[in-house]
Amino acid sequence: MIKQEDISKILDATEIVDVINAFVPLRKRGVNYIGNCPFHNEKTPSFTVSPSKGIFKCFGCGEAGNSVNFLMKHEHYSYPEALRFLANKYGIEIQEEELTSEAKILQDEKEALFHVTEFAQKYFADILFNDQEGRNIGLTYFRERELTEETIKRWGLGYSKDKWSEFTEHAKKNGYTEDILIKAGLTIAKEESHVQYDRFRSRIMFPIYNIGGRPLGFTGRVLSSEKTKAKYVNSPETDIYSKSKVLFGLHLAKNAIVKQELCYLVEGNMDAVMLSQNNVENVVATSGTSLTIEQIRLIKRYTKNVTILYDGDSAGIKAAFRAIDLFLENGLNVKIVLFPDGEDPDSYCKKLPQEEFKAYITNEAKNFILFKTHLLLDEAKDDPFKRSALIKEILNTISFIPDNIEKAAYVQQCSSILNMKEELLNNELNKVLRERYFKQRKEDKPKLDQPKTDLPPDDFFLPSDDGSTYISSPNAEKQILPSTFPDEAQERKIIALLLNYSDKETTQTVIGEDGEKKDENYLVAAYIVGDITTDQICFDNQLYQKIFNIYKDYILEKGEIPELNIFTNNQEKEIQNLATTLLINNYCISGLWESKWKMLTPDPESSERLNLDVKESLLSLKIHKLEKKINAVKEKLRIEDDLDNQLILLSEQKTLEKIKQIISTELNRIITR
Ligand code: UTP
Ligand code: MN
Repeated sequence: MIKQEDISKILDATEIVDVINAFVPLRKRGVNYIGNCPFHNEKTPSFTVSPSKGIFKCFGCGEAGNSVNFLMKHEHYSYPEALRFLANKYGIEIQEEELTSEAKILQDEKEALFHVTEFAQKYFADILFNDQEGRNIGLTYFRERELTEETIKRWGLGYSKDKWSEFTEHAKKNGYTEDILIKAGLTIAKEESHVQYDRFRSRIMFPIYNIGGRPLGFTGRVLSSEKTKAKYVNSPETDIYSKSKVLFGLHLAKNAIVKQELCYLVEGNMDAVMLSQNNVENVVATSGTSLTIEQIRLIKRYTKNVTILYDGDSAGIKAAFRAIDLFLENGLNVKIVLFPDGEDPDSYCKKLPQEEFKAYITNEAKNFILFKTHLLLDEAKDDPFKRSALIKEILNTISFIPDNIEKAAYVQQCSSILNMKEELLNNELNKVLRERYFKQRKEDKPKLDQPKTDLPPDDFFLPSDDGSTYISSPNAEKQILPSTFPDEAQERKIIALLLNYSDKETTQTVIGEDGEKKDENYLVAAYIVGDITTDQICFDNQLYQKIFNIYKDYILEKGEIPELNIFTNNQEKEIQNLATTLLINNYCISGLWESKWKMLTPDPESSERLNLDVKESLLSLKIHKLEKKINAVKEKLRIEDDLDNQLILLSEQKTLEKIKQIISTELNRIITR
């Protein structure tokens, strides 16, 4: 358990842009940051982060929350895991009980898996440098493959000894249970004989990390070339490691990928390590598995441009073919570099001087049409059947490109290379598309893409004609407000003011005890809560009411204003969502107001704006509530037969209308000033 005061410390220290930027590249846009949403596929960024409010919100898929929510959703951390991650990042010490070995079993299993995997990573690295066998065999091997000590350390490489269970014994002595060692895939247990042994023995160890740099599992490679042993042993799928969802090296490559707007994709771990040592840092490896959609999504968070560096053998080419279609289908631009026979990126990179190798992978990068035609034409020669199969094959690939203009451009290129009429190719292409469409409908395949909604244009946040400033994206609206009702806009405005300006000062005119009007300073939240409570106004939207009640309870009972975290981190997902939306949206508005009016209005005027906003919002809300009451009284009157009652109702109506009149006049004064 993490103490409440530590949680507050962590949340205070957390910079959301800093946290999210480690996973999603963000760029500044006005007062906010935007990026491509990591939670759904999108082409234009609608993922918005507000640094000062400490929250994010995606206008495409509606995902929203604070830093902790982000980590829970993105890294699949539990709540305490996310807090520990942040504590670690910001160097905040948290008071947690030292774990006994029993507590280790009881604690969140995923966290335990992370722990033991990290323990193993450190162990294997330590053996490599400090154990005699490790140095003699492991380190010597790495040296032979020309890896520098710096590279080895940067990637956390290691060595597992030629012993049956040395690691398992060592881990147990350090308090890790058999159960967790087995679950992490580090120890193998034979049930019949009750024998336990290390999964990785006498191998060099490549740790596999998540994007945040935490080890999830391992790939162990044999040192000898003897064929009796499997060349690679991998961690099995565990609760933290899924082979299809990670890319080897991404934690080190991500920044370079963003900077260079390009990701190199290789097959082998050693390829990635060697390239990074040679200043090609934007490189990740699929580690021998065939590329998955999850891996493509990972890349897509950082760039849309991929260059595949595969071996020139037939297996490599086949893998490249498959990868090309998958990349294109997901809207990425893909190029391919093939290496001379018998070479892979690792070996070829060592053959050439650094700059020449870089030039090679830049200049030899072919787009998929050139690549496919080149290869297939070689095969087909003049055989008309083979040629037509080749054309179909290329058109099939073109058909995966989602963008129509791009598609047309590729058809054009294809037509000139193959010397065929564009029209003919287009007919063929349409045929492919039609077939795919019907096939997909039959299979009713769930679409990979979630609804794509782009960020609304900037002016979307400007005041609309009806004077309500707080418009959110149509999508967000749908999620939060189950049904609209007349007072919706007024109620929302009050809550938005509370959330965004609760601790700002506002000057309001009140009637003092002597009956005289005078100006008094209030905190926005105190004034709004006081005014609404005095007039006994209720919100029709229950979520708004809940948020209002939290403010009311804090102010009236504790004498303080609640922190935004109470809302953005609320137990109720709906409150979290609503608060985040109102915070982000309003942020955009005030930012716009600022930039729009900066030249015209000096600073004091913006506090005047807030004064007016508060006043106007409260008056508008009251007018709407009054109108409702008046209508209700009128309705009663209509069906009331008793004269006495009619008179009472009439006078009630009159009073209400009088109040409404007064409020309207005041409101008009504000609006038309
Ligand atoms: P390669 O056999 O091409 O190895 O497998 P490599 O990377 O070139 O290794 P070196 O140069 O001989 O040392 C490519 C990648 O496929 C994965 C590994 O991650 C390897 O780096 N792989 C391959 C496995 O995981 N299991 C296998 O059985 C084979
Ligand atoms: Mn190799």
